[in-house]
Amino acid sequence: MESPFKPDALKGRVALITGGGSGIGFEISSQFGKHGASIAIMGRRKQVLDAAVSALRSLGIQAIGLEGDVRKHEDARRVVESTFKHFGRIDILVNSAAGNFLAAAEDLSPNGFRTVLDIDAVGTFTMCSEALKYLKKGGPGREDSSSGGSILNISATLHYTASWYQIHVSAAKAAVDATTRNLALEWGTDYEIRVNGIAPGPIEGTPGMSKLGPEEIESKARDYMPLYKLGEKWDIAMAAIYLSCDSGKYVNGSTMVVDSGLWLSKPRHLPKEAVKQLSRVVEKRSRAKPVGLPTSKL
Ligand code: COA
Repeated sequence: MESPFKPDALKGRVALITGGGSGIGFEISSQFGKHGASIAIMGRRKQVLDAAVSALRSLGIQAIGLEGDVRKHEDARRVVESTFKHFGRIDILVNSAAGNFLAAAEDLSPNGFRTVLDIDAVGTFTMCSEALKYLKKGGPGREDSSSGGSILNISATLHYTASWYQIHVSAAKAAVDATTRNLALEWGTDYEIRVNGIAPGPIEGTPGMSKLGPEEIESKARDYMPLYKLGEKWDIAMAAIYLSCDSGKYVNGSTMVVDSGLWLSKPRHLPKEAVKQLSRVVEKRSRAKPVGLPTSKL
């Protein structure tokens, strides 16, 4: 699908995208690149990074791949430094690296719980704190910019209520959302850095979807979640552009839900016609006998 944004919406900006070699992270990388940004992608798997970088370069996008694990502080520091060294500035940090698997709470070891928190929550904070120096207003490479850079944290909607077999990810994404708001407050005030998030619904063709929503689950989900439909990676990338370019200049501390309303889903317990009829009957009954008045007073 064609982008509604101008091709130069992110011209001259440099974006560092963790988990940028595959899934939603890669779509954000390529859409940012198509809109003029230079891209550094961070990931653990060299082969995936190499393939992603050549795909981006074949589109004419300036891109580098940097191996690293967001759980390792020294990796985070090295990747941020290398991005700055290569491009001379950093304008946007996208925290898209995430870990996930389905596990019933009673079968999940504390280490399994910790592993996902380490990747999603601690990893996000580690990357933010390493990038702070370059993102702040007037920081190295930003001498010509009138404001600070921006951060975008990829989250989820799992923790808005509760989600089966996702206690670890729900806890991790709740921490990510809290990090988004707190950094928006502190770094927005002190350094003019905007910090926002995106909470995607189920997105087709992503590792998350194949791990968490295999076909068997997906067809059942359609029955009990009336608003269930799959999104495209493009939907998330467009939201990311909106929040990262000038269109989002007044948005700070917000996590945008991009799920077609899915998290609001509730099964319809009565057909519309039945509501109309039942509602009239109830009204008539209450007019005949005002609520709260004992029958003897009528
Ligand atoms: N069910 C229950 N526990 C699991 C599990 C599963 N499917 N997969 C991993 N774990 C547990 C392990 O048993 C281990 O705990 P233990 O030491 O108490 O046994 C802990 O999690 C760490 O597992 P390990 O395989 O050593 O971690 P890793 O660092 O190699 O991999 C994961 C991290 C598990 C999150 C892996 O899924 C991953 O790398 N994911 C990244 C990609 C991804 O998930 N993308 C989707 C994003 S939505």
